[in-house]
Amino acid sequence: MDSSKNLTRNICLKTGVEMQRMRRPARILEALFQDLRSKIVPGVTTQTINAYCERFILEKNAEPTLKGYKGFPAAICASPNDVAVHGIPTDTPLRPGDIITLDITISIDGWHADSAWTYIAGAASEEKNRLVKAAWKATISGILAAKAGGRLGDIGAAVERTAKRCGCCVLEDFAGHGIGRMMHEDPIIANVGTRGVGQPIVPGMVFTVEPILCLGKPAVRTLEDGWTIVTQDGSPTAQFEHTIAIFRDRTEIMTYTVPSVHKNIDALPYL
Ligand code: MF3
Ligand code: CO
Ligand code: CO
Repeated sequence: MDSSKNLTRNICLKTGVEMQRMRRPARILEALFQDLRSKIVPGVTTQTINAYCERFILEKNAEPTLKGYKGFPAAICASPNDVAVHGIPTDTPLRPGDIITLDITISIDGWHADSAWTYIAGAASEEKNRLVKAAWKATISGILAAKAGGRLGDIGAAVERTAKRCGCCVLEDFAGHGIGRMMHEDPIIANVGTRGVGQPIVPGMVFTVEPILCLGKPAVRTLEDGWTIVTQDGSPTAQFEHTIAIFRDRTEIMTYTVPSVHKNIDALPYL
């Protein structure tokens, strides 16, 4: 989300029962993103992918929350190459070496889950592979820094440090957000920051970690459609997003339940 949005509502902590409700849309999103890995190939259009996703979501009796959200015209955001975020699906076929971020929010019984993955159509340049791996690593390191007893600045600091070590920049205007009954709730989860600074992280918080990384200059502009945000220098971007839940003694990645993720954060599941 756009971090300039002033979310003034209070943080809504979730009970155990509410967390359980949020796992349902989260599991469906996880399954959808797993399924999509084999479908992102040269020649396919993002409109076809959008239609596939919408059918998948509806078949599971979930709602494609993004469709119609503030007038957004599709069930998924599809952001190829230099599109940083909020890309609208098109009828242009993916070319070999394109990278594409798919960002999807769904809900069941009014409870939301939000996740994004960057995929590669065919084989990409070494540079793009490096960017996608860096985005995964930055996201996971941010998640690992999100612990009860810490501060929200711990997350931004971890994301920023990891991105820089990987030779990438963070698009600072975009941030994660609380999630629950609403897609966007307090607090804002910045992707830059200082350890030990910011609001305390407490059990019951559910929020997203979703840094956008780029290889070039971290400056963006909005296209005339009012949605599509591209890098000014045309350099590619990559983003992963997970919905996570804070417990007293652990942090759960609701939208990615593979246990080994904590052991090897270099291991992007498909690269
Ligand atoms: N899923 C996005 C997020 O991570 C929100 C997209 S809003 C839309 O916050 F209107 F562009 F779809
Ligand atoms: Co999202
Ligand atoms: Co989000």
